Amino acid sequence: MNSTNITSVTHGVPAQSRWKKHGHSGGVLWFTGLSGSGKSTLAMALEDALFAKDYEVFTLDGDNLRHGLNANLGFSAEDRSENIRRAGEVAALFASSGIIVLAAFISPYARDRDQVRQIIGNNFHEVYLDPGLDSCEARDPKGLYKKARAGEIPDFTGISAPYEAPINPELRIDTHKQAIDESIDQLIAYTGRAFRLP
Ligand code: ADX
Repeated sequence: MNSTNITSVTHGVPAQSRWKKHGHSGGVLWFTGLSGSGKSTLAMALEDALFAKDYEVFTLDGDNLRHGLNANLGFSAEDRSENIRRAGEVAALFASSGIIVLAAFISPYARDRDQVRQIIGNNFHEVYLDPGLDSCEARDPKGLYKKARAGEIPDFTGISAPYEAPINPELRIDTHKQAIDESIDQLIAYTGRAFRLP
């Protein structure tokens, strides 16, 4: 830590007042899974659906953040950890402003995801999208598996870099077996329960 001689200041607006205004608490649904497992597709469809139901909601997506905040990071284990650390800190800020964050990152390392869970606390919910590697590779929406198999992309998750599957995710969705609409219904119901006001 290089930031020294710093003092935190306290917000005057209590979290509960923000939640009351929004009609729900703030927090994070953290989508993890292989490339092509449906993280961005489900997160963006869920964002649409929740927004239409008057939720305050915003999606943070790995590919998008890597165009800006995380543009200086690659795909080594260290860079992925830093990618997830920054994404987790941003998600935590959004969450403490009372917003529901849908975070879509491969986040292949359990330790990195657990760190985000620690930062955010009870309002962190891990959603594991698990259609299986074969189905991700068969779909290959961006043509990346083909390139990775041809040796054109080094350290590709699932092919030449690890993916540590969550052991106890709050939610696990087989996006191969289950249709998008069905998954969205399941996620809307889960969101309603998870962020309901006390
Ligand atoms: S993470 O591993 O650091 O969490 P993140 O979710 O931000 O990854 O970005 C993943 C996206 O980067 C993939 O959807 C894919 O489009 C792209 N990508 C480029 N190179 C790789 C790679 N080596 N492994 C995985 N994804 C990659």
